[in-house]
Amino acid sequence: MPMHVAVAVSGRGSNLDALLRALGPGALARVVLVLSNRPDAPALERAAARGIPAVTLREPSESREWLEALERHAVDLVVLAGYLKLVPAEVVARYRGRILNVHPALLPAFGGQGMYGRRVHEAVLASGARESGATVHLVDEVYDRGAILGQGRVPVLPGDDPDTLAARVLELEHRLLPAAVLAAAAAGHPVPIPEPVESHP
Ligand code: GRF
Repeated sequence: MPMHVAVAVSGRGSNLDALLRALGPGALARVVLVLSNRPDAPALERAAARGIPAVTLREPSESREWLEALERHAVDLVVLAGYLKLVPAEVVARYRGRILNVHPALLPAFGGQGMYGRRVHEAVLASGARESGATVHLVDEVYDRGAILGQGRVPVLPGDDPDTLAARVLELEHRLLPAAVLAAAAAGHPVPIPEPVESHP
């Protein structure tokens, strides 16, 4: 029986898409549920196009709807893929060690509350860092703090702006997140990603 994965989203859903592409028929993991805190998230259309049940959380800061949906779909692993709100503490407690997040920088740098989307890449560029990357980590009660399971690195290039850097990092996220989910499915629970995920030249 494949590992049952729920993916939580807030927006576009390109990481959801990358995960769905990586989890073909016979894969060790299957996306059985998409959760969104926004009814207009384009990611919901991607879920609908694939016939995946989706739930828009009316009160995303409360655990009741989360836990009902996760239990109804017998979810083993929760993946935050561009989900921008804090997961309720009761959900973290119930699924401790079984919630992953992908963050578009090399944590612990450039993380924490308010550090999402374009702001992350602006901060990286403002710092003068020569490289950035993506991080997959376990989720606990504090934004971007849980144990790191894997990172990939990309260079910051002369002339980069937040959009060009974001695109380079996103391409890496699209490989790092599926690698983390497949490693978790093979082990039965999240584990450090065994193979390094490199940037494409
Ligand atoms: C990604 O960069 C993710 O790391 C960040 O928000 C972006 C979401 O992109 N937290 P998408 O919705 O998966 O396309």
